[in-house]
Amino acid sequence: MEKTEVMKPETLDDLIKLLHKHYESEDINVTEVNNIMEAYDSNPQEWMKFAKFDPLRYTRNLVDKGNGKFNLILLCWGEGQGSSIHDHTNSHCFMKILKGELKETMFEWPDKKTHDGGNMVQKSQRILKENKCAYINDSIGLHRVENDSHTDGSVSLHLYSPPFDTCQTFDERTGHKNTVKMTFSSTFGEKTQPETTVSQENN
Ligand SMILES: [Fe+2]
Repeated sequence: MEKTEVMKPETLDDLIKLLHKHYESEDINVTEVNNIMEAYDSNPQEWMKFAKFDPLRYTRNLVDKGNGKFNLILLCWGEGQGSSIHDHTNSHCFMKILKGELKETMFEWPDKKTHDGGNMVQKSQRILKENKCAYINDSIGLHRVENDSHTDGSVSLHLYSPPFDTCQTFDERTGHKNTVKMTFSSTFGEKTQPETTVSQENN
């Protein structure tokens, strides 16, 4: 008998276990990972300890290191907070909404055709609702993610495989890019200490 049913994770721990199991194989099935992520019914009690909001910007909170195969990261988006336009460093990116809504705007790579330094080309835009899981990689394009709400925070759970710690961000008006190192606001539920700036001791 063929195993075609979608595995339904009952809890966040269960979801993490299922993801570990899937990633034991070298053969990653994007549709199946998306289905597993989507099948989890968000329960705030299970992920609350990872959710650290910041009044100034969205936060990235490490939930699980996936045996080195993937990073599972919980992102907290305060009212009106959003990301830059960015790429995904040749990784798979799954984004599941745990609370609220997020607006995703897709862009073409500025260097795909002879970009003249003008505005980047917007391809599409959509609103992702609670429990929905979206997928993107560099061949699909670039995106910006925003919480458009003026009254409610949003929370999303991202799976990146393989894990990466730098990505490129793009200026919408010029297409110019920057390489950005990504950091965590918290790791396994504990706030990360800000790095001390060693380079300033030179004076
Ligand atoms: Fe992204």
